[in-house]
Parts: sequence; C-alpha cells; structure tokens
Amino acid sequence: MNFSEEYNKRIEEIEGILTRFLPPKEGEQKVIMEAMEYSLMAGGKRLRPMLMLESFRLFGGSGEAIEPFMAAIEMIHTYSLVHDDLPAMDNDEYRRGRKTTHVVYGEDMGILAGDALLNYAFETACKAFNMEPENSLRIGKALKILAEKSGIYGMIGGQVVDVKASGRKISGDVLNFIYRLKTGALIEASVMAGAVLAGASDEETRQMEQIAGKIGLAFQIQDDILDVTSTTEILGKPVHSDEKNEKTTYVTWKGLETSGNEVGRLTEEAIRQLGMLGRDNEYLEALFRWLVYREK
Ligand code: IPE
Ligand code: IPE
Ligand code: MG
Ligand code: MG
Ligand code: MG
Repeated sequence: MNFSEEYNKRIEEIEGILTRFLPPKEGEQKVIMEAMEYSLMAGGKRLRPMLMLESFRLFGGSGEAIEPFMAAIEMIHTYSLVHDDLPAMDNDEYRRGRKTTHVVYGEDMGILAGDALLNYAFETACKAFNMEPENSLRIGKALKILAEKSGIYGMIGGQVVDVKASGRKISGDVLNFIYRLKTGALIEASVMAGAVLAGASDEETRQMEQIAGKIGLAFQIQDDILDVTSTTEILGKPVHSDEKNEKTTYVTWKGLETSGNEVGRLTEEAIRQLGMLGRDNEYLEALFRWLVYREK
C-alpha cells in the first residue's frame, strides 16, 4: 500500500463531502456562512472524519448516512479550534496556514462562527435520518455519541480544565484528564460513531473507544512536541503557544525524549488492540503509525 496516495485519496473524498454539506452563502446572515467556510475549508489533516470512515469500513458499513456524520465531526472539531484560538483562550493568530477566524472576521463573528459550526454539525448529522430512515436507531445512537463526547464530559470539559490550568502547575493525573477529554473525546467519538453506523456491537464499539483513547492521548502528546520542535510554516499555527500560555504539557512534565517514547508506546498498544479485532485494518494501522511521525 502506498500510504500517501491512499491518504490523499481520502482527503479529497472528505473535502468533497465537507463542501457538499456546507450551507449556501446567502441571506442577511451570509457573513457567518463565509466565516464557517473560511475556517472549515482551510485544510487540516481531516483526521476525525478519516477515522470515522475507516472505522465504518472496518465493520463492513455501507450506504451514505456516514457522510453527514463525517462532515459533522469535522465541523465540531473546527469549532473547537476557532474558539481555542480566541483571545480569551489561547490567543493565537494563525491556524491551518492562515489568519485565525476571529482575526479576519472580528471576535464577535469568531465566537458566532464557532457556535454556528457546532449547531450546524448537528443539523447536518440529522440529515442522515432522511437519507436512511431504516437506520434511524443507529443514527440516533451515533448522534448521542457526538453530543456526549463534545460536551462537558468530553471535549468542552477538557478545554475547561486546560484553560483553568494555564499558569499553574498541575499533576500528571490532571494532565492526562485534560488530554483524554480535550483531544481524546472527539477522536473516540469518530471511531465510535463510524462503528455504530456500520452496525457494530456495543462491545466492539467499546473496544474502538479504548483504541481511540490511546491514539488520542498519543496525538495530543505529539501536538505538544511539535509546539516545541516544529515551525509555524510547517505547522500552519504558531509554535511555542503552550509556553506563551504557561501550560503544563507532556513536554514540560516529562521532557521531549520521554514524551516521544510515550507516543510510540501508546500507538503500538493501540495497534495491538486493533489487531485483536481480527478485521482487515491495513490503512488504519498505517494511519496510526503515520501520526507518530507526523510533522504537523
Ligand atoms: C489540533 O487538531 C488540536 C488538537 C486536538 C491537538 P489537529 O492537529 O487535528 O488540527 P487540524 O484539523 O489538522 O488542523
Ligand atoms: C486544543 O489543544 C484542543 C482542542 C480541543 C481545540 P491545543 O490548544 O494544544 O491545540 P492547538 O495546538 O491550538 O491546535
Ligand atoms: Mg488550547
Ligand atoms: Mg491552542
Ligand atoms: Mg497544541
């Protein structure tokens, strides 16, 4: 398998789906549709919709109801970034290689664009009911996963503790709590929703959640490493953002080398657990490995 060829094929497919599900830019409130498109179509690794689709395929999923969910998870993720970059939070001016949404559209529209992406994510996912009414139960379960993993027991909860911890020293336990929620939760939601929409059992969905939990933690540790070792040109977002905000990270806690080893260890554990499902997972395994060595 040529990984980058396969990866690019999927990126193209996902961007096509995102474009199709974006609202038309019209009406008195058209500026918000423009800001939504500005932040959503700025590139990015598209990891979450990709994981959702691969998990769907892993469990033999077919049909199109997965597509509005793929768009929805990327909208939720993008909203989390738009708000994460606001002056009141990480106060960053670059994202995905361009000026952040609030810098271009103003802080008011930045806040509203985030709100809009979050709400429109659920409006979009609900389109699955019309596409496949016969799968309403699965669609309802997937919606519940999206809602819970985005909320106060998921991504938002993690962001709350992350923001509150700025400028303070925190324990390793609290740091792991933050990472599991702020980053892990949406990665878990991605594979879980994909599995549920394909008809996976509760037990299989739970196993996917565990695998994604490890990948999510590894992903955030690598994000911390890149914040220190990469460049703004490569990352498309500012480096040293964590230092600026006086964040405790894996790098400040354990140092670069141990953090890097931790990323490798968690990834190998996730791959081992994935193998135990006994399903064809060649691309997913390659994607997990690629994340360890990613440069952005
Ligand atoms: C950035 O997510 C925020 C974190 C959870 C570390 P990504 O690194 O997936 O950002 P994009 O989507 O590629 O821009
Ligand atoms: C943010 O973590 C995770 C989110 C839920 C947005 P970071 O603040 O480290 O993400 P980046 O580095 O700005 O992408
Ligand atoms: Mg942040
Ligand atoms: Mg940030
Ligand atoms: Mg970061």
